[in-house]
Amino acid sequence: MKVLLINGSPNPRGCTYTALNEVAKTLEQEGIETEIIQVGQKDIRGCIGCRQCKESGQCIFDDFVNEVAPKFNECDGIVIGSPVYYASANGTLISFLDRLFYSTLADKTMKVGAAVVSARRAGTTATFDELNKYFTISSMPVVSSQYWNMVHGNTPEDVMKDEEGMQIMRTLGKNMAFLIKSIQLGKEKYGLPEKEQHVFTPFIR
Ligand SMILES: Cc1cc2nc3c(=O)[nH]c(=O)nc-3n(C[C@H](O)[C@H](O)[C@H](O)COP(=O)(O)O)c2cc1C
Repeated sequence: MKVLLINGSPNPRGCTYTALNEVAKTLEQEGIETEIIQVGQKDIRGCIGCRQCKESGQCIFDDFVNEVAPKFNECDGIVIGSPVYYASANGTLISFLDRLFYSTLADKTMKVGAAVVSARRAGTTATFDELNKYFTISSMPVVSSQYWNMVHGNTPEDVMKDEEGMQIMRTLGKNMAFLIKSIQLGKEKYGLPEKEQHVFTPFIR
């Protein structure tokens, strides 16, 4: 059982990392393998909507997105972390996520997801909502904690002092481990839910 943790900050050891690392440590203590992937400092362009991935199963831009895609397909859970930029997620992270979620055709049903955000002061809940939407369009259960998953600070030292924020991260790790293990048992006992053919209704006639 493995969880990928995506750091959308350009600071590889900054505030977002400090929060993600607390989740990762807790997951490891619960027997779940983890890998933190640095995304925020990469040069990642946005999706151009060419839809070639729907034929090939991978993004036409053969970069870091395609490197991470097989790991995403195989993992049992993903934690997406972002610093808050103008009350939104980091732009590079959004380019990465749009292309990763759109181009990977493997079924994501019951792969669990959680968003984690870091801000000096505000914009946390808007960013949290933004990131959770990748899961809720993908049949992925969203893992929650005792509060919305956020930490506050401008430096890792600030974040370490945010005791409530750090506790939220540990609770998130425990809840995620429990859910992954429970889903594993559920899959063995009941199998995945049956799927209907996907209906696309771009507009209502
Ligand atoms: C371009 C930019 C925009 C920012 N916008 C906000 C904001 O809207 N609200 C806020 O509280 N902090 C804002 N910040 C501060 C960061 O969100 C905050 O310092 C965060 O914890 C940094 O995380 P990191 O160390 O992982 O990069 C902004 C920082 C930058 C560089």
